[in-house]
Amino acid sequence: MVLAKHVNPEELLEQLQRTDGKIHRHHAQQENVGNFLTPYSSRYNAQHEISKFRIPQNGAPADAVHQMLKDELDLDGRPNLNLASFVGTYMEREAEALMVENLAKNMSDADEYPAMMQMHARCVSIIANLWGAQKGETAIGTATTGSSEAIHLGGLAMKRRWQEMRTAEGKDVLKPNIIMGANAQVALEKFARYFEVEARILPVSEKSHFRLDPELVKQSIDENTIGVFVILGSTYTGHYEPVEDISNILDEYQAKTGIDIPIHVDAASGGFIAPFTHAQAGGPKWDFKLPRVKSINTSGHKFGLVYAGVGWIIWRDEKMLPKHLIFELHYLGGTEESYTLNFSRPGAQVIAQYYNLIHLGFNGYKAIMENALHNARLLSKSLEATGWYTCVSDIHRKKGTYTYAGSQDAVLGKEDETSADYNAGLPVVAFRFSDQFKKEYPHVKQEAVSKLLRMKQYIIPNYPLPPNEEKIEILRVVVRESMSLNLLDKLICDTIEVTEGLIQADAFHLSALYSAATTIEKSHQSAGKDAKARHKQDGMAPFGLLPPDLVPLLHEFLRRDDPSSGSVGAGDGDWRAHASDEDLVIESWSQGFLVGSLIIMAAITIANMRRKVLLHKFILLEQLMAMSHGTFCFMDFKGYGWYLSGTATLLYLSWIVHNLVAWMKIKPFFIDRRSMFKQETGIWVRNIYLSTLALTVPVNIFQIFNNFRFFNNINNLYTYVRPYEPLIRDPWWVFTCLTLFHVIRKCYGTGFVELIRKSPRFGILLAAILLSMSFTALDIVASIHNFIGSTDGINPWWKLSLVFKCLTDTIMLDDFKTELKRLGIIRIQKQEERRNSVALVLDDKEERELEFADALNTNPARYHDLNNFNWNNALNPTDDPQGRLRHASMENSRSSEARVEPHNGNAMRGTKIGRLPGLRSFGFENIKPGKKAKADGHADDEERGSATEEQIRDNGNHIGGGIGKQCAPDERVTNMPSSVDAIDFQTRQEGY
Ligand SMILES: Cc1ncc(COP(=O)(O)O)c(C=O)c1O
Repeated sequence: MVLAKHVNPEELLEQLQRTDGKIHRHHAQQENVGNFLTPYSSRYNAQHEISKFRIPQNGAPADAVHQMLKDELDLDGRPNLNLASFVGTYMEREAEALMVENLAKNMSDADEYPAMMQMHARCVSIIANLWGAQKGETAIGTATTGSSEAIHLGGLAMKRRWQEMRTAEGKDVLKPNIIMGANAQVALEKFARYFEVEARILPVSEKSHFRLDPELVKQSIDENTIGVFVILGSTYTGHYEPVEDISNILDEYQAKTGIDIPIHVDAASGGFIAPFTHAQAGGPKWDFKLPRVKSINTSGHKFGLVYAGVGWIIWRDEKMLPKHLIFELHYLGGTEESYTLNFSRPGAQVIAQYYNLIHLGFNGYKAIMENALHNARLLSKSLEATGWYTCVSDIHRKKGTYTYAGSQDAVLGKEDETSADYNAGLPVVAFRFSDQFKKEYPHVKQEAVSKLLRMKQYIIPNYPLPPNEEKIEILRVVVRESMSLNLLDKLICDTIEVTEGLIQADAFHLSALYSAATTIEKSHQSAGKDAKARHKQDGMAPFGLLPPDLVPLLHEFLRRDDPSSGSVGAGDGDWRAHASDEDLVIESWSQGFLVGSLIIMAAITIANMRRKVLLHKFILLEQLMAMSHGTFCFMDFKGYGWYLSGTATLLYLSWIVHNLVAWMKIKPFFIDRRSMFKQETGIWVRNIYLSTLALTVPVNIFQIFNNFRFFNNINNLYTYVRPYEPLIRDPWWVFTCLTLFHVIRKCYGTGFVELIRKSPRFGILLAAILLSMSFTALDIVASIHNFIGSTDGINPWWKLSLVFKCLTDTIMLDDFKTELKRLGIIRIQKQEERRNSVALVLDDKEERELEFADALNTNPARYHDLNNFNWNNALNPTDDPQGRLRHASMENSRSSEARVEPHNGNAMRGTKIGRLPGLRSFGFENIKPGKKAKADGHADDEERGSATEEQIRDNGNHIGGGIGKQCAPDERVTNMPSSVDAIDFQTRQEGY
């Protein structure tokens, strides 16, 4: 029996209830609930179930339904232990009573509930004054359902004002943009998307304390910027963003350009903290005291201390709220103005807000906020004192200090200290494992802390920081007013207990904790890398590409869930643990692609390999070494990390060999007169080429070392160096290939197109270079930003780049000199043929075929075999006039072959072109008889160099005899200057 199948519980129950082909269901609403046999019969009768998906025909008694729903809701987490949320979970009994009494009141019925509307207006006024409303301005605002709605209204007002201003100036309004940090809450991004404004999301970093960086704001604004969203209290870490600094930058910009860019402050949490605490917003101004701050929002249901359902937006002056957004309603007998997105909204929450404001007063709020900050500091310091954790939030560090100085720094403050002694921020504790902890216990993952604390009923999310810093995962506790010192004490004890347990557990047992989903409160980005980062967290497919049935198979195949696999441990180098399902598919595909392509290229190399040609052996070696690194995703054994890095070592060696091959190819061309450089410069370039190439060796060794340390979870340095790897890998071979093109262009005077048309292999070579470089660029981007493929190099891009890089060698197996010579010989042969056959031998089409064949044949000695000469005709040249001409041509061709055929006649067995006679055997004037054909430093030439003067003369005579009948040598010389350029290697050797 197969046990591993999906069980649908609904179907299962239906099956069990099915007797005699009918479903016998007892619904709670059926009459037998009126059974009085036991006091519990109506509520707990096990035969009754609640209708789930369709409305029942008949209702059910209130007490029964109440009890059943209550029982089900008991499965929820406890709001008070939901330490992930900023939203209030406690209100006093009196406030609750007020709310219950006014639950039925709707904010949209202003005329019906004037008293409630008065309270609403008072709240707006109180909050506006708390936020520094200025004399001479008429602040205006409204309650909303939360900060999200308020943010959308603030954004809309900015967009409309910008449109009106631009239209008045006769400018276009087509491309509005808005600035925000990558740490922005989803509501801000939603505004941009829903209301068609380009969101310029600026990266955050440790340096900017994971919040909007004023410098980046400066670089990102322009005339189309409708405003800047500045967050007072980042959802991730609780840091306040520097409103005043950003305001100053916008002031400077306005002074320079005349463009006035407003600020909207998203003070969802901070709006009810900063005004009350001693720390304020850390010194600088953040509210309406800054003229550039045009609107501010807050969530009444966060630190406004009301239950969920109320937010606030205030504009500093009614002029800031464009008339266009205000609707005048004549409804239910009255006239009212509406500028909210929702029409009906709960009134009870507004009443509760007013209750809090007047019941607590300024000092009440102040005491609560100071207390929350104190508790948050206590938690932060306790966590850091363990040495296991370090805080990413900074509210527990002395004002102006932002670095963790070690556990000894975690001392509790003096009795009378206040938040003013510390960095300002939300009472949020964002913490992570300390570096020391990660080093000592690499098998423990942070998400396990979240999961184990969940078992103790605390809800504490573990999630990655915003894009750009997503490598850092944090656990986050929002210290709300409802967290008593007693509860805090318990939380600290439980966290320590859980961490101790994790330290003692072995990797195998812990692995069970790592696969299931973690809830992340902040997981707003819906596509691209952010979705991917979220996915990596919660184990769901980001794009839903994979059929669910395939996923377990994939995991099994790629050892995803096998605790004995991975790179032994649970650190960053354990790439499988971090990879999404799509990553696994892409990785296995790309490794297969790498190995497959390299096998084919190796086969081609072997098939074309010629004896004594070292170059070919190197090319094969390069391919074989790189191949090994396309296998690790299928491996699974202890010490797997060593295997991964071992094959990576071969890959690094393969790069070095590739560059060695590039050197062997380019060697003759540095001081050549056709090279890109003058002779003296050429020597310099050669020296630079060689010395920098030599320098890559220690850097490669360093990175091999880093690779071992990373994939065995010892150290992360590898990831920082990785984006720079192309610098130690690519410049040499790319330079070599480009030099080849340059020399060919110079020799033949042909453009790229002509060259590619003549010899398609150059087209393929060029395409391979371009593709390789493009994939390298993608690899670099992927190593910095996590889009497809992770920043640790587990991505398809470098593999694609490598395949096309190796292709450049496979396409040009021979050294360039041989390649050029081959082209030169073909060219001469063709010119000779044309001359000899007086254009009758080949028609246009034949000629094209010939040239194509030329380009494909590495051995011009086989040229005629492949062009199907009519040998019968050729043997009886007198039979027809064309035959005679062909005969002449054939004679000439044979003489060429004789030149081409080595003396031992083994051309068909793969004679090196290097053995072919050089141009001086054509008897050109620049050839000095008596001088031995000298090698130019290349192995091929060593062999060619053995040609004796006699042989040269022989060849010269032979050729001269054959060709001279048709065309005088001098004439040929003038006719073939470019050919001379191409193959006359002898004369350019001087001085080298
Ligand atoms: C900075 C920030 N802005 C906006 C919001 C959205 O607020 P609301 O849930 O009240 O719509 C939140 C919620 O956490 C927040 O932290």
